[in-house]
Amino acid sequence: PSNETTVSIAHVFKGTFAHSTQDAALEILENRVLGVDNNGKIAFLESGKDVVSLSEKWGFKASDVRQLEPHEFIMPGLVDTHIHASQYSYSGTALDLPLLQWLNTYTFPVESQYKDLSFAGNVYNKVVKRTLRNGTTTACYFATIHTDASLLLGEIADRLGQRALVGKVCMDCNNSVSHYKETTEESSEETRRFIQELLNKKYPHVRPIVTPRFVLSCSSALLRDLGDIAKNNDLHIQSHISENKEECEVVKQLFPEFKSYTDVYLKHNLLTNKTVMAHGCYLSDAELQVFRETGASIAHCPNSNISICSGLLNVRNVLNHKVKIGLGTDVAGGYSPSILDAIRRTMDTSKTLTIQNPRNQTLTFEEVFRLATLGGSQALSLDAETGNFVVGKDFDALLVNVFAPDGPMDICGLEPPKVLLEKFLNLGDDRNIKEVYVAGKRVVPFADSA
Ligand code: GUN
Ligand code: FE
Repeated sequence: PSNETTVSIAHVFKGTFAHSTQDAALEILENRVLGVDNNGKIAFLESGKDVVSLSEKWGFKASDVRQLEPHEFIMPGLVDTHIHASQYSYSGTALDLPLLQWLNTYTFPVESQYKDLSFAGNVYNKVVKRTLRNGTTTACYFATIHTDASLLLGEIADRLGQRALVGKVCMDCNNSVSHYKETTEESSEETRRFIQELLNKKYPHVRPIVTPRFVLSCSSALLRDLGDIAKNNDLHIQSHISENKEECEVVKQLFPEFKSYTDVYLKHNLLTNKTVMAHGCYLSDAELQVFRETGASIAHCPNSNISICSGLLNVRNVLNHKVKIGLGTDVAGGYSPSILDAIRRTMDTSKTLTIQNPRNQTLTFEEVFRLATLGGSQALSLDAETGNFVVGKDFDALLVNVFAPDGPMDICGLEPPKVLLEKFLNLGDDRNIKEVYVAGKRVVPFADSA
């Protein structure tokens, strides 16, 4: 039976669309018409030459068509594959210590405050709103060890309309801020409760993700429990790996029986095709091969890697190993809550590696555009639902106005769409993001109630 009798068209846009595919880092589609159905899915994407017959076929009125302005285009929503919602309160500060000291000095004391639900609710509202305004339609969040506050983050993402994976952080080892940890049993049990309660809410676009903080925060017993929980419930998994040299050294000392940092996660059943690991600056080629074989992905967090002097990830080498990779802000190790910033820092890192060794082939802006959109969706195993403009996928999109009246760019000539996109990626900000859609629903500008 045809869907056309039950599905109605909720939005029709006409103009220029820019997205990525498996084959093309950037595909620009000019003079097209895209229809979104009442379930938020892309119903059609066709030439704009014959809107009349499209309107007859799909039953929309010519007056329903949203004609984009000359300097506007529509692109897929940005995907933040790694962000600590709980660290948003101190983003832009505390960037003067390397990872392990940074965690002990700044991060753990702040995260321990999320026991207080009103404190948590205030920050979580702000970070979800800020990232949505910045065009993040999908976010993969770390919360804190507190189950109820983590559930609150899920509720807020749902209410504001962001697609999100939400992780209650697990840690049963912490020698510096000793009150900010759980027992092994608490961590496993609370993870089960978190998953069950979040799934029971039946939020359409918010899901739980199993979140061992990293090897140095978790006992082997806890890692094993979490691997089992993820496997038995077919859940996503996130953690950190090979971010900083000192961290890698300590992992080696504590787990001498394992071949590598990657091997620790692998042997605890934590590397699956639904796993995303942040950083990976110091992964060997052999470890990247394990990522490839298991289908695990990397969240590249260049602002954080530079801000707390962790390292430079060679994204070209990751791509050559055919490992899935997306971009992450890693707030607050990264100071910016914008994936546009992550795009720029990715280019900077790539160019720095080229300066160091001209044989490191610099990433193109088109490739980085793909990392920020389709690559992120693939890294989070959400690409069957989102990531680009394919009929049947959810419409997660940004309506960009490159020359917004109050924006940061000026018209100096006739710019083709590819140049407009490049300008937006390098110079744009939230003033250029006129509207944001998640699963066909306009989530920015916010509803008055938000
Ligand atoms: N490794 C373990 N925890 C963290 C964290 O909160 N931020 C970063 N950047 N790395 C980590
Ligand atoms: Fe992180």
